Amino acid sequence: MIEFPAEPYRIKSIEPIRLISREQREQKIKEARFNIFKIRAEDIYIDFLTDSGTSAMSDNQWAGIMMGDESYAGCRNYYHFEETIRSITGFKHIIPTPQGRAAEHLLFSNILKPGSMVPSNTHFDTTRANIEFLNGEAADFVIEEGKNPGLVHPFKGNIDLSQLESFVKKNREQIPIGMMTITNNSGGGQPVSLENIKKASEIFHSHGIPFFIDACRYAENCYFIKTREKGQQNRTIKEIAREIFSYADGCTMSAKKDGLANIGGFVCVNDDELRTKITNNLILFEGFRTYGGLAGRDLEAIARGLLEALDERYLEHRVGQIKGFGDLLLAEGIPIIKPTGGHAVFVDAAGFLPDIPRGQFPAWALTVALYRAGGIRAVEIGTVMFGKKDSTGKEVFPTLELVRMAIPRRVYTESHFKNVATIFKQIAANRNSVKGLKIIYEPPFLRHFTADFEEL
Ligand code: F0G
Repeated sequence: MIEFPAEPYRIKSIEPIRLISREQREQKIKEARFNIFKIRAEDIYIDFLTDSGTSAMSDNQWAGIMMGDESYAGCRNYYHFEETIRSITGFKHIIPTPQGRAAEHLLFSNILKPGSMVPSNTHFDTTRANIEFLNGEAADFVIEEGKNPGLVHPFKGNIDLSQLESFVKKNREQIPIGMMTITNNSGGGQPVSLENIKKASEIFHSHGIPFFIDACRYAENCYFIKTREKGQQNRTIKEIAREIFSYADGCTMSAKKDGLANIGGFVCVNDDELRTKITNNLILFEGFRTYGGLAGRDLEAIARGLLEALDERYLEHRVGQIKGFGDLLLAEGIPIIKPTGGHAVFVDAAGFLPDIPRGQFPAWALTVALYRAGGIRAVEIGTVMFGKKDSTGKEVFPTLELVRMAIPRRVYTESHFKNVATIFKQIAANRNSVKGLKIIYEPPFLRHFTADFEEL
C-alpha cells in the first residue's frame, strides 16, 4: 500500500491545466525540435521542470503581497524580511537579491580571484558557472555513496571529510571560501547531516577559511535531520536550522525554493567589510540595499513563506509526497535514485532505456517520451546537460544519465502523481518505440536550453 500524506491545507484558488490531444503534442514536440524547454507552458499538462519559483503561495502570503510598501528606501517589508531571516539564521547582515544566482555572483565577485578554488559537496550549475566565470575552480567532494543511484544511505549529500581535509591542506592559499549545498540538488536532492556540516565547518575554520551554505532547500534538509539523525527527534526545525547556520559565516539562498516565493533570494554574511563591498555592488547592479532588485511585496511574500516552510506538518507532507511518488514509480519497476530526496524524484534513464546508447541521449529521449505520452515535462540531467567534448570533439559522458522530476511545492495532488506513474507504465510497456536522438544545433554553453534535435 503506497501512502500519500493528506495535505495540511485546502485549495482556495485554482489554476486550470489541460492536456492537449496526442496529435497536438506530436506537433508541438516536433516544432520544438524535441527540446521541451521550447514548449509553451500552456501546452504542458503536468510540469515537473523545476521546483524553483513554482510554489503555490498561501492566503497569508497573498495578504502580505497587499501589504507591500514600495518605498524606495527603508520599506517596512525589508525590516520584516531581515528580522525573519535573522531569527532563522542568526547572521548579522541580510542582503536581498533578485534570486539565488545573483546572491552567488555578489558573493563570489567580491572574494574570488582567478585561480581560486571553492570546495563543496556538489555545487549546483549556477554556483559552478559563477565560480568558473571568475576563472575559479569549483571542486565537488560528495561521499561515494552519493554517486550510487541504487544505494540507500540516510545522508547521501554528505561531503567526504577526508578528501576535503586533504584538498584543503594541499590548496590552502587558493581557497577563499568553502561551501556546502543543502540539500544536494545535483546529487538527487539528498540531505546532509548536521554532524557532517559541523565537521566540514571545523575543517574549514581550522585553516582559517570562511564557510558558506547554499541554503536553497535548508528547511527540507532540516526535516531529514530531524527524522533521520540520532538525537535530533525532539528538536524543532527552527532549532536545527539555527544550529546549522551557527557553523557558517554566511549563506546564499534562492527564496524560490524553501522561501515558498515566486521570485527572490538573499545573501547573508557576518563580516562587516564583506557586507559593505556586497552592498555597494548591489546598489550598482540591482538596487538599493533595502529592496535588492525586488518589490516590497516580494520581500513580504518571502518573509511569510520562510516561516511557513519551517512548519513541520508542511515538511512532513512535502517529503512524504515525494516519497509516495517515488514508491509509485518503483512499483512500476522504474529505476529511481534511492531513497527519494527533498524536492524531486530522479529516474535512472540509462537503466530504464538500456537499448538507447549513451551517444543517443537516453535521458533526453525519456523527456520526449513523457511529453508525447502524457504532456509531462521533466528535465534531463545527463549527457546533454553535463556532457563535455574531448579535443577530438567526441562526447565524454557524465557518470549518470538522469531525468529529474522536480515537484513544485503545494501544487500537485496524489492523483497527478498517479497519472504520471500510469504514463511511465505505458512508456515502459512500449520501451522499444522510444527513439534515440541526435543534436542538429547546439550553442557553445548550456546547450540543453536551446539545442535542436532530430529523432533517429
Ligand atoms: N543553488 C541551488 C542548490 C539551486 O538548486 C539553485 C536553483 C540555485 C542555487 C540558483 O537559484 O534559480 O534562484 O538563481 N535551482 C533551480 C533548479 C533553477 O531547477 O534546480 P536561482
